[in-house]
Amino acid sequence: MQPVRVLVTRRWPEAVERALGERFDVVLNEADRPLTEADLSAAMGTFDVIAPTVSDRLPAAIFAPGNRCRLIANYGVGYDHIDIAAAKAAGIAVTNTPGVLTDATADLALTLMLMAARRAGEGERELRGGQWTGWRPTHLIGSALKGKVLGVVGFGRIGQATAARAHHGFGMTIAYFARSPRPEAAALGAHFCADLDSLLAMSDFVSLHVPGGGETANLIDAAAIATMKPGSYLINTARGQVVDHDALAQALRSGHLAGAGLDVYPHEPQVPAALLDLENVVLLPHLGSATEETRVAMGNRALANIEAFAKGADLPDRVA
Ligand code: DGY
Repeated sequence: MQPVRVLVTRRWPEAVERALGERFDVVLNEADRPLTEADLSAAMGTFDVIAPTVSDRLPAAIFAPGNRCRLIANYGVGYDHIDIAAAKAAGIAVTNTPGVLTDATADLALTLMLMAARRAGEGERELRGGQWTGWRPTHLIGSALKGKVLGVVGFGRIGQATAARAHHGFGMTIAYFARSPRPEAAALGAHFCADLDSLLAMSDFVSLHVPGGGETANLIDAAAIATMKPGSYLINTARGQVVDHDALAQALRSGHLAGAGLDVYPHEPQVPAALLDLENVVLLPHLGSATEETRVAMGNRALANIEAFAKGADLPDRVA
C-alpha cells in the first residue's frame, strides 16, 4: 500500500511535525508562507490529506471531482475558511481540533476584557512614547469588572469557559444568548436571553463566541451596536466577519462604546484602517490559541484524525 501523503500548509510545533513525519509521507511548508488558492488546488490532486489552518482559503473551486485528496484535517476548531458543502459534495471528509483550545481562547477573551476596561494598551503606548508624567488620581481611569454584566454571545465550550472565568474569577454576572437554554448555565447563575437585542441592551461587556460563516456574518452590525448599552465594551475572539467594523469604529469614536478588544478581523492579516488610530480599542493579532501547550495539543488532535483516516477508522473530529 502507498504511504499516506500529507501536506501541512503552515509550520506546526516541531514535536508534532516530527511525529507526523514518522508516520506519514509528509511535506512541510518550511518557509511558512501562506499558500495561494492555486497551490492548494494543485495539492488536492497529489496529496491524500491536506492539513490547513485558518490562514488558508479552501473555496468550492478547489474541490474539483477526481482529486486524490480525501481528508482536510484542519489545524484549528473554526472551519469557516473551508467550503464544507463543496467538500461534502466531493466526498472529502473534514475534521477540526475541538476542545483543546478552549482554555487558551477564554484566557485571551479575559485578557482583552481587562486590557480594554483598564486601558492597558493606551497606558503602555503613553509610557513607551515618553508621555507619562507620573501618578495622578484622574489618570487613565477605566472600569471595574466586578459586579458588571458580561453578555456572552454563543454559549459553547469557549463561551462557557469565558463566562466561568468572568464569574468565578472577577465577580461578574453572566447573561448569554444561544439557540436554547443550556444546562451548564445553572452553575454560573447565568441568565438566558432568547433574543440578541435583550442581551446587548443589558450587558456592560459583550463577548462573542459564535462560529464564523454565513449565519453569523455581520451579526453585530450597526443596529446591534446601537442597541448595546452606552459605555459598554465589545470583545471578539471568534471571527472578524461577525462584526461590522465601520459601525464599531464609529461607536468607539462617538463614545457610545467605551472600548473594544479584538483578536480577529474579516480579512486577516489586514486590520480595518478605521480602528488603527483609535485609542479605545485593543488590537491583538489572532492569538487566541497561541500557547505552546495548546498549539501542540491542536497538532496532536489533527494527527489523531489523520491516523484514523489512514486506518480507515471513524474520524474522531469529523465535521463533514
Ligand atoms: C481556530 O482554531 O479556529 C482559531 O481561530 C485558530 O487558533
